[in-house]
This record gives sequence, C-alpha cells and structure tokens, in this order.
Amino acid sequence: MNFYLTTPIYYVTARPHLGHAYSTIVADAVSRWHRLLGDEVHFLTGTDEHGQKVVDAASAAGLDPQAFVDSIAPLYAQTWQRLGVANDDFIRTTEARHRAGVGELLQACYDAGDIELDLYSGKYCVACEEYYTDDELDPGDRCRIHKLPVEIYEEENYFFRLSRYQDRLLQWYADHPGAIRPEFRANEALGLIRGGLRDFSVSRTSLTWGIPLPWDTRHVAYVWFDALANYITAVGYGTDRSQFERRWPGHHLIGKDIIRHHCVYWPAMLLSAGLEPPAGWAVGGWLLVGGEKMSKTTGNVVDPLDLVDDVGVDGFRYYLLADTPYGQDGDFSVEGLIGRYNSDLANNLGNLVSRVATVVGKGCAGVGPAPSSDSALSSAAAEAVRANLAAWGEFQPSRALDATWSLIRATNAHLEANEPWKLPPGQQLDRVMGDALEALRIVAVLCWPAVPSTAEEVWRRIGLGGSPADQRVPAAAEWGGYPGGTVVTKGAPLFPRKQLA
Ligand code: MSP
Repeated sequence: MNFYLTTPIYYVTARPHLGHAYSTIVADAVSRWHRLLGDEVHFLTGTDEHGQKVVDAASAAGLDPQAFVDSIAPLYAQTWQRLGVANDDFIRTTEARHRAGVGELLQACYDAGDIELDLYSGKYCVACEEYYTDDELDPGDRCRIHKLPVEIYEEENYFFRLSRYQDRLLQWYADHPGAIRPEFRANEALGLIRGGLRDFSVSRTSLTWGIPLPWDTRHVAYVWFDALANYITAVGYGTDRSQFERRWPGHHLIGKDIIRHHCVYWPAMLLSAGLEPPAGWAVGGWLLVGGEKMSKTTGNVVDPLDLVDDVGVDGFRYYLLADTPYGQDGDFSVEGLIGRYNSDLANNLGNLVSRVATVVGKGCAGVGPAPSSDSALSSAAAEAVRANLAAWGEFQPSRALDATWSLIRATNAHLEANEPWKLPPGQQLDRVMGDALEALRIVAVLCWPAVPSTAEEVWRRIGLGGSPADQRVPAAAEWGGYPGGTVVTKGAPLFPRKQLA
C-alpha cells in the first residue's frame, strides 16, 4: 500500500529546536512502522523559505535571503540525519520543482474562478503571516500564539474565495470520518469551518521574496499558499504527473498551531484545483518547557543535539515518543528525560538484554536455545503485537511503546519467576532462555521504529542476521521465529544509568 507521510516544513528563521525534532521524530517512527508493514513508504520533510520573516531574519544576519536560507536549511537536514530520521526526500520551497508546482496550483485555482483581486486592510501578525479579526486577538491587539502586537496592513491582494467552501468542506469531512486524528483535534477543525470561513489573501505586493503569481507577476504568493503546496510539489505536481498520481493523497503530521491552514485552507485549495484532499491529518500538541510553548520568541529553546549528547539518539527518541500521548501537550524536562531513560531503557530493556546474554553465556555455552511453542510469554507477545498494530495505525507511538514495554516487563518477570541463573545447564534452562530470546526478538522488531539502532543492536546480540528493518509485521512478530542455535553476544551495557547533573 502507498503510504506518503509529511511533516510541516520548518521556517528557516531559526535553528532546529526540540519542538521541530518532536514532530519530525514522530513522523519518522510512524513511517518506519509502515516500512515494517511492507507499505510503499515515502516520507517527506523540508524547509519553508519564503516570506517576510525570512527577509527580516536575513537582514538581521546581514545576508541576502538566498544566502541566508542556504546557510540554515542544511542545519535541518543534518539535524534529522543525526537523530536517525530516515526521510526519503527533503523539500526546500526555494527549489525549482516547488516553484513550478506552486505556479501550476495557483493557476488552477485562478482558472477555477476561486482567486480574485480585492482591496484588503486588516490586523496582521507577521510571526503567523496571518490576518486576524478583533475577536481572535488578545487585549492590546496581540496575537494569541506569539503574544506580539499585530500590525495594520492595507494591500491590494488576490483572494482565495474560501467562503465558497464551507459546505463542500463540511460534506467532505462528513464523508471521511476519522481523517483528522486524534478525534478531539477534528472537532477543533470542524469548529473553525462551522464558525464561518473568510476569504484569505494569497498574494503580497509588498514582498519580492517569494513565488510570483503566473498571471500577475507584481504579486508574489502568500507564504502559506506557497508552503502548503510543498506536499504536492515534492511528489511531482507540476513536474512529474505519474509520480504525483502514484503518491497523492498523503498523510500530514502537523502541530495544533497550524490546524486552520492544513485542515481548512489546504483541502479547499486542493478541491478548487480539482485535486483530492489529503488522506488524513495527525495533529500533535505542543512540547512545553516550563509551561510555555518552545519558541525563539519565548526564549526557551532547547537544542535537541545537546540532549543527544547526554542520553544518545535512541534515549532522546524514546523519551519524545513515549512520554507524551500524541495529540496532547507534553512537558519537556531534563528530570523527565533522565527518569524515563533510567527506568525504561536502563532498568527494563537494558537489564533484560544483559541478563539474557549473561545467562546464555554461562549456562548455554553462549548459544541461544530455541523457544518453546507453548510459552507463557507467547500470549504477552501476541498482545503486544496486536496493540502495536492498533496504536501505530492511530499515530499513537506512546501507546505502542507502552505495549512493547509490557512485553519487556513480562519477560523480566518471567526470568525472575524462573531464576534461570540458579538452574543447571539442561532442558529447563534452555526452555526459559529460548523463550526470553524469542521475546527479545519480537521486542526488537516492535521497537525498531522508535529506537532503530537499539533494535538493530539487540538483533545482532541475539545472533540474528539481517536487521529488524527487513522484517514484515505482523508475520515476523509471531511467536516462534527465533531459530535457536545462534551465538549470543554480551556487549557493553546498552543504556548505562545516568545521574541528574
Ligand atoms: N512553516 C510553517 C509550517 C508550514 S507547513 C506547510 C511553520 N513552521 S514552524 O517551524 O514554526 O513550526 C512547524 C511545526 O513545528 C509546528 O506546527 C509543530 O508541528 C512543530 N513545533 C514547533 N514548535 C513546537 C513545540 N514547541 N512543540 C511541538 N511541536 C512544535 O509553522
């Protein structure tokens, strides 16, 4: 099955921070799960490089916009690589393929009669690149997201006639229940549509750093129109029709701050252009630091690479994925990070791996015995697999990991109940250890999307060839796949315990 997944494209006005890492890692883990399912996965991320904010940031850095974006975009690509993110493509909105596709999309909406010239004056938040009405602002005319005062803008703009799309959008959502996950985020989007839709401007004349409208080049495309289009231009819209038809529609993973653009504007733009709306949206909450959204404006930015130096890539990924149910806001703290690392990774998984290797080394001459077919652990494993299938399908990594860690705990408990370290070599010991090895094999498959290097290392240590990446679920996670007779290696602790600095 085709599975095309996108992250938001990040503004290049700042270096990547923990909030960006969060949505990218969730998307990476979900796409890796779909790779295990055998889907034809295409995972896209990228950078949003046009607009006034970029011009301002470039001039503050003393660079022209192109030189500025060229200096920042690679930081995103490099950070994702460092965090084990396996994206198939990286789109920059300054690329030619994007420019071509945006032109085509604009022209299609214009030809459909949904883009018209009008005069507009209103209160504009430059940080959001968005006009607001009085009742959408905090006292003192401040934007609710950035807490910054808005500015009065007056422009002759082209407008997208979003107001014509209220009924069509409501009908589309009624026909596609479950398209927005989790459910309560769908209510937010539907509330926006039911509340009435205002036309939005799709062009600026005050700006040159953007993509010109094909029929009136005095105007450049509004940054959101330009940015949203990345999801189709990256897969060939405007340049490679057959690729586009193969991959679209895709799933969007987004933050709750950009619901309006993704769940209201974007499907209307697509419908206008005669294209299919997205296959679905998975909407995440914010990662808060000290109760506030992390952002450059708030000044509470955490660099993900600093955390990786402390707990490793997988320690960091595990914390982000396990600690916050996707959709809810999460609270980032170093105490939380170290706490989860010590309890779930060092104590549970790390201990299990090292115990199994030690006992097999001593009692089984280092060769892993085959599992039994009627193990008490097999039902725990089957339950973990079932829960993983359901949870990843719902974009809920925390639930999936919880289920996998239940299997790890059950396996540790099985060892404690049977005390194989006290057993003499023989059938009874082989049985306990074969079952534990089989549980570890299944754990390695199930946790690969979240902690790929750890899963690959466990796989290697229990003597298996290839990689969990090559496995296909659910078949490969069924009980009985560990062959026995392979050499089990004891290595250094996977997760040495950490003290709070
Ligand atoms: N460029 C636009 C998106 C265009 S998509 C066509 C944008 N960029 S952004 O860099 O400001 O933020 C993008 C996304 O990053 C947010 O929607 C959210 O998914 C993620 N996050 C940014 N800060 C975050 C947190 N503090 N916590 C969780 N996610 C955060 O908006």
